[in-house]
Amino acid sequence: MCGIIGVVGDEPALPAILDGLRRVEYRGYDSAGVAVLDGARIDVVRKAGKLDALEKELASHALDGHTGIGHTRWATHGGPTDQNAHPHTDCTGNIALIHNGIIENYLELRERLERDGHQFASETDTETLAHLIESHFSGDLTAAVRAALSEVEGAFSVGVIAAEQPGLIVAAKRTSPLIVGKSDGATFLASDPTALIAHTRDMVHVLDDQVVEIRKDGFTITTLAGEPAEGNPIHVDWDTQAAEKAGYDTFMLKEIYEQPDAVADALRGRSLPNDMLALDELRLAEEDIRSVDKVFVVACGSAFHAGLVAKYAIEHWTRLPVEIEIASEFRYRDPVLDRDTLVIAVSQSGETIDTLEAVKYAREQSAKVMAVVNVVGSSIAREADAVLYTHAGPEIAVASTKAFLAQVVGLKLLALYLAQVRGVMWPQDRRRIVEDLHKLPAMIAQVLKLRPQVRELAEHIANSPTVLFMGRHVGYPVALEGALKLKEISYLHAEGLAAGEMKHGPIALVEDGVPVVAVATQCHVYQKVLSNIQEVKARGAYVIAICSVGDGEEVARHADRVLEVPRIHELLVPALVAVPLQLLAYEVATIRGRDVDQPRNLAKSVTVE
Ligand code: M6R
Repeated sequence: MCGIIGVVGDEPALPAILDGLRRVEYRGYDSAGVAVLDGARIDVVRKAGKLDALEKELASHALDGHTGIGHTRWATHGGPTDQNAHPHTDCTGNIALIHNGIIENYLELRERLERDGHQFASETDTETLAHLIESHFSGDLTAAVRAALSEVEGAFSVGVIAAEQPGLIVAAKRTSPLIVGKSDGATFLASDPTALIAHTRDMVHVLDDQVVEIRKDGFTITTLAGEPAEGNPIHVDWDTQAAEKAGYDTFMLKEIYEQPDAVADALRGRSLPNDMLALDELRLAEEDIRSVDKVFVVACGSAFHAGLVAKYAIEHWTRLPVEIEIASEFRYRDPVLDRDTLVIAVSQSGETIDTLEAVKYAREQSAKVMAVVNVVGSSIAREADAVLYTHAGPEIAVASTKAFLAQVVGLKLLALYLAQVRGVMWPQDRRRIVEDLHKLPAMIAQVLKLRPQVRELAEHIANSPTVLFMGRHVGYPVALEGALKLKEISYLHAEGLAAGEMKHGPIALVEDGVPVVAVATQCHVYQKVLSNIQEVKARGAYVIAICSVGDGEEVARHADRVLEVPRIHELLVPALVAVPLQLLAYEVATIRGRDVDQPRNLAKSVTVE
């Protein structure tokens, strides 16, 4: 996600801003920028690309002011260009702002501001906020920020400066993180402690709907309504490397724990108060969606598994036939495509060459292509006719976790949207599922508490020669994903299997003590999965079953160990069951001493065929 930093002090602000931005580079970003207030003038320098490009640009500018803000942008609304990079300014250039988060109602606000004569220079949601503050500004920046934010829906941490008020940064937060800290001679804001470690280890976490006035001799926190308030003081004693991982041992573990937020971000702003879904960035005409008579999903690895989960939902909710294809196979087998075929390409990076080539091929065959992608402005996003961004934030560990969950959720939204546009689903059914989707972040947080139990299981299976994963219906793609996670980070042999297929061959692998992880959550084939568990148990398997809360006792009659996850609509279950499987792979890999973030032979983004 975006990194933000701000400083007011005795010395020129720029060196501290650049140092802070370097320290948050690990979060991933695609452009960067700074705004420095000198006397009564704000200078803004922004550049697409890495910090080196920004520093090169800065070489021809003299920015000596002592108040400044800086930003590394992970694109969400609008591609990674100079114009979309932060800081953003109002019409006059007298107000500049950095933002981390997503303004959900930006389109509505932007339309109103444009009608009032405001001139926009970027495609971002953030710029709306700069103009909104301008519309409320009459000499008091804090008052204008309060007024503007009271109109905003969504997630934000912001830092704002105004030419009329040198020596002041106004910051505020809702949902997205914001930290403030003070050293001798300067006061800072940042998106995470890493950026401030060089200056102070005593910081304050600003809380939701708080506003902070930052001056060189300290900061004052108030509520959005202007009442005195306090944040949460913290003392950071991590070294820089640990701070980058927010105190977790690895990026993968950090990303596993970020999943409640990643899923909330994937859902943010996509359902309207009238129960309709609004997937604004899709850019595909409703007539085109209505004329679709067949769907292909193409993807690789974990994205393929997310696509397989989606197949069940799209077919069930839209009654359109769906074929799912590994992207590297797709264009070499002469698939039947025409202008009424919809191809959905799923990719975290948006750069996987197999998926990109499949997209190009599909378009050549005149099919319509929708990309479900995490990285904004990536090649697949650009090549497709329409895009749905998953907003999981940057994923650093090679093994996909939060991006996978965001894909599962993003594809569910897409399936519901297709059903909505084609008029084939009752609005009350859609509403119920959307309500369930919104329960997922809290449920995922609950599932993460299973970690100590998962660790015990990992100790039991860490030295097995093989581990089998099995499930039926949407439990099958989750079994595939569980096996892939275990293989890629622990180097232990694992297979994901359709539980009903075991008896047609794979059950021959089962002998005394072979671990079988079974997905046995509530669904219309639950009883059948129980039978499949009995079949492997009868042949000596050590069965670890994942079931729904309340079924533990029944499932424990057949399985050796049981993990319970909350009950939810059966098509949404993968977003919960995937989590203990990620944790299992993680714990086994650490027991086996593997490099969890950078497993051997693998790359985060595979750009060769
Ligand atoms: O960036 P993409 O989603 O297109 O990547 C696809 C696969 O390479 C990726 O999911 C890979 O399988 C991960 N290492 C899985 O953890």
